[in-house]
Amino acid sequence: MTFIVIARWYAPSEVISSAGRYGFVMSRPYSTAPISVRDVSVAYDGPPVLQSVSLEVPAGTTLSLLGPSGCGKTTLLRSIAGLERIAEGEIMIGDQVVSSGRTHVPAEKRRTGMVFQDWALFPHMDVKANVAYGLGKADRNSDRVHDVLALVGLEALCDRMPQKLSGGQQQRVALARALAPHPQVLLLDEPFSNLDTALRVEIRAEVHRLLHELEVTAVFVTHDQDEAFVLGDQVAVMSGGQIVQVGSPAELYVQPATPWVARFVGEANLLRSVAHRGIATTSVGAVPLSTDSEGVVDVLIRPEEIDLQAADAGPGTIAVIEYYGHDSTYEVDMGDHSIRVRLGSVPRFRRGDRVTPVFVGDEAAAFEATESDDRD
Ligand SMILES: Nc1ncnc2c1ncn2[C@@H]1O[C@H](COP(=O)(O)OP(=O)(O)O)[C@@H](O)[C@H]1O
Ligand SMILES: [Mg+2]
Repeated sequence: MTFIVIARWYAPSEVISSAGRYGFVMSRPYSTAPISVRDVSVAYDGPPVLQSVSLEVPAGTTLSLLGPSGCGKTTLLRSIAGLERIAEGEIMIGDQVVSSGRTHVPAEKRRTGMVFQDWALFPHMDVKANVAYGLGKADRNSDRVHDVLALVGLEALCDRMPQKLSGGQQQRVALARALAPHPQVLLLDEPFSNLDTALRVEIRAEVHRLLHELEVTAVFVTHDQDEAFVLGDQVAVMSGGQIVQVGSPAELYVQPATPWVARFVGEANLLRSVAHRGIATTSVGAVPLSTDSEGVVDVLIRPEEIDLQAADAGPGTIAVIEYYGHDSTYEVDMGDHSIRVRLGSVPRFRRGDRVTPVFVGDEAAAFEATESDDRD
């Protein structure tokens, strides 16, 4: 019990790293802080790259910033870090205004730790010197470097030069370096994008565990939906310099704000149909709606919410089968449109088979039908 009480008052990172080695807490008190971004706009030379962006990241939670390349994710992260000046709005870390029209607290005074896309390790310094870089004298002379390297499992490699490390190890050094100066917030810019798939999944799981254990406030930038969902307590979806929607991963998946978000966070069938009294009549049967809609709508049905029944005279024909091992995805030709269906692992159908697709989900979101091409 004592440990838990102490953990509330001392920096979580201190508790983990020090407690792990000594069995008790040694370091100075320090707390993790919320981030508040209010109506922030940023422009480089031309038109604004961020337009009136607002976000709240509660202390100790992780927010994933998800959006396509070029939408402004790095700019927002660098603005929070103090590496870019904002044109309008306000950024707070804890109860301190760090950026506004008048204020610009320099990056090194913000107590943020940043992990860059390319990790940006110093090639001429060994691992421990990389991690010690930027630490005050007291921390450099303490066990801090050793402790954060232990935290990421790299104690044994503290004398190596970066070029003698694997990608995954370099990534861990970058993380240790960001954590070493007791940051109040951790900012990660696509930190896994230079790793191959298997390693990426492994390191992602490690970072996930670490973020939870440390209870550090983190903003994690990615263009990868899986990563955003796995790591984020909340996910903010960005497009064209604006936040389109913020919510839990489940909220975004089940109740996306727009058809674009629906597609960006997963595979989506948007079936044109007619809604009446909470039911839409679609090509996969009657679908109860979670939204209050009447008339012509596009109904969002995820591939796993459809089952396929073999039927010689069924309305669908299996056009393509993608076998993934853990499941199979079928593209079903319905004549005037096609739908995607995901079923358990062993392929049950062959190309050309006739089928009847049936909705097996609970209820679905519907969007007002538009003339745009944002549907199947
Ligand atoms: N230093 C810069 N000078 C001018 N334009 C920039 C600069 N950095 C980024 N941009 C532009 O700002 C937009 C957003 O870029 P960025 O924040 O890097 O997006 P993301 O990280 O989502 O890919 C892009 O159009 C990019 O070309
Ligand atoms: Mg970027």
